Amino acid sequence: MEIDPSEQAGSLYRTLSGAVVPRPIGWISTRSAEGEDNLAPYSFFNVASVDPPVLLFAPVDADDGLKDTPRNVVDTEAFAHNVVTADLVGSMNETATSHAVDEFERAGVTKAECTSVDAPYVAEAKVAFECELYEFVDIGVSSLVLGEVTHVHVDDEVTTDGKLDTTKLDAVGRLAGSEYAYTRDRFALERPD
Ligand SMILES: Cc1cc2nc3c(=O)[nH]c(=O)nc-3n(C[C@H](O)[C@H](O)[C@H](O)COP(=O)(O)O)c2cc1C
Repeated sequence: MEIDPSEQAGSLYRTLSGAVVPRPIGWISTRSAEGEDNLAPYSFFNVASVDPPVLLFAPVDADDGLKDTPRNVVDTEAFAHNVVTADLVGSMNETATSHAVDEFERAGVTKAECTSVDAPYVAEAKVAFECELYEFVDIGVSSLVLGEVTHVHVDDEVTTDGKLDTTKLDAVGRLAGSEYAYTRDRFALERPD
């Protein structure tokens, strides 16, 4: 099959989200200008830069414009990313809703206050990154949100000798639709000299 996006009926969503896998899940917590807290998953998510440390996520617009998370980031210039681990995946799924409810409560997770920005984070997250808006870019019916990391919370449980240990993290990734992948099936591949 060959696909020319300009001739394809509908968007390339299925091909993009089905082939770019597994994706890390940005579990983004924000606060609105009115002070309401929000938590939602965004799997179009990744590291944009290490120095400065910048994370990115790319929300698609809702029918009536920006979703709550990007709207809050535009208003407050702050967000936190809470790493989704196997123990939290059910809670993460509960937060994929646009209903006007406190998603922390709905997901049964504890709200903690960020140290460096005006946003909440998930206290149970093994790693949480606090971010300050770096840049907000419009891309058609989506946006690209870049956030500079201003503080990181790391649970000692996922460290070895004072460093983050991915083998202890048990992170989960997103595949297509409602399918997810564990990061438990690993193999090592040494780089060539
Ligand atoms: C695992 C997962 C990943 C998701 N990734 C995205 C994404 O990358 N972009 C997006 O616009 N919506 C994504 N969604 C849907 C949003 O989470 C959903 O629209 C949510 O209601 C947005 O909440 P908010 O309006 O409070 O920001 C995802 C949902 C799930 C369950």
